[in-house]
Amino acid sequence: MSASELRYAVIGMGGVAHFHLNQISVLPGVAVVGLCDPTDPKGWRVPAAQAGVPRFQDAEKMLRETKPDLVSICTPNKFHHALTLLALRHGAHVACEKPMAMTVAEAEAMEAARAAAGRLGGINFSYRNNAAFRFARELIAAGELGRVLRVNTVYLQSFLGAEATPYSWRNDLTLAGFGALGDLGVHMIDGVRFVTGLDYQRVVGLAQTLIPEKTDATGGRHPVTTDTNAAFLAELTGGVVGVFETTQVAPGYGNFFRIEVSGERGTLAVHSDHPEEIWLRAGATLTRYATWHTDLPLQRLPTDFVSRGTPPSPGAIVPAIRGEKIDFPTFADGLKAQRVLGALLDSMKSGSWQRLG
Ligand SMILES: NC(=O)c1ccc[n+]([C@@H]2O[C@H](COP(=O)([O-])OP(=O)(O)OC[C@H]3O[C@@H](n4cnc5c(N)ncnc54)[C@H](O)[C@@H]3O)[C@@H](O)[C@H]2O)c1
Repeated sequence: MSASELRYAVIGMGGVAHFHLNQISVLPGVAVVGLCDPTDPKGWRVPAAQAGVPRFQDAEKMLRETKPDLVSICTPNKFHHALTLLALRHGAHVACEKPMAMTVAEAEAMEAARAAAGRLGGINFSYRNNAAFRFARELIAAGELGRVLRVNTVYLQSFLGAEATPYSWRNDLTLAGFGALGDLGVHMIDGVRFVTGLDYQRVVGLAQTLIPEKTDATGGRHPVTTDTNAAFLAELTGGVVGVFETTQVAPGYGNFFRIEVSGERGTLAVHSDHPEEIWLRAGATLTRYATWHTDLPLQRLPTDFVSRGTPPSPGAIVPAIRGEKIDFPTFADGLKAQRVLGALLDSMKSGSWQRLG
């Protein structure tokens, strides 16, 4: 390992750790120096390329012994805050999973600690990698739709309603902080801000728990204490109305995340499962007259556009650490989304609109 190599470690060796490892370990000049999870290392699913990397069950010991420059935090949400502060104390940059934290206070403390340590922090809003989302952002920023008039977004899954899906930390409010709202809703909150460039002024929402109990892998029954579905309204910059719906119990839907935006001169829609396509009818000539079509034409994305080649999250933090000017989702973006989540929880308790900022 050369002195200029970036030493990289991962905390939390579950599903999403593979996404981080696959993206970051393959970047030139990155050496994976440690993997950590409190469970028995024999049970971890480690990619073949990292089979020989030292394994730790204690994060502090790993940080002390391996001295990483960059740490991915891929644990249940409850641990994002403490592990981020720990990694920063050990001098590392942090690539943390979403949602950033359990509360706004935790997210604020993470961003303050990052700034004080002079390190970079990324939050893995992975849909910013989707080419269609990037292209839509460029169209709207270039004024192709004119002034934005309305936003509508849904993020629908079915997994929690399925009998075969066992109980997990995602159904425990003390470990997850949120259900569908923090798991999927936070992607909608960041995604709309990313695509439209509009911020949140005030929000009102409601949530439910439609699945009261789940069975774990060993047959034990547990109450579901998180929301399983949520809906909210947002007033965005300039008074634009955003309508949001998310659920983990929409039978038939695998991973359906769609953002639709109308402006004065057109409408577009992007969909997570169609990264190379956009639904789009826009331009003064096309929208001068009302259309009788019931849907928007589906078009292939151009082969090239400005942000197509931008490095994806979470790996984009690596060139940023090396001093390149890279657009990637940061702790500041995570904190903005956390404030919207916090305002929504307040709104759900009080039954009233909550103002941001
Ligand atoms: N960006 C995305 O699209 C995306 C997708 C999936 C998951 N996530 C996020 O990634 C995080 C992890 O989700 P997952 O699906 O990988 O969950 P998972 O249950 O598959 O894995 C979590 C791992 O963390 C370990 N862990 C628990 N407590 C820990 C601790 N204190 N220290 C170290 N490790 C600990 C568990 O043993 C487990 O191996 C969550 O915050 C989730 O919201 C994001």
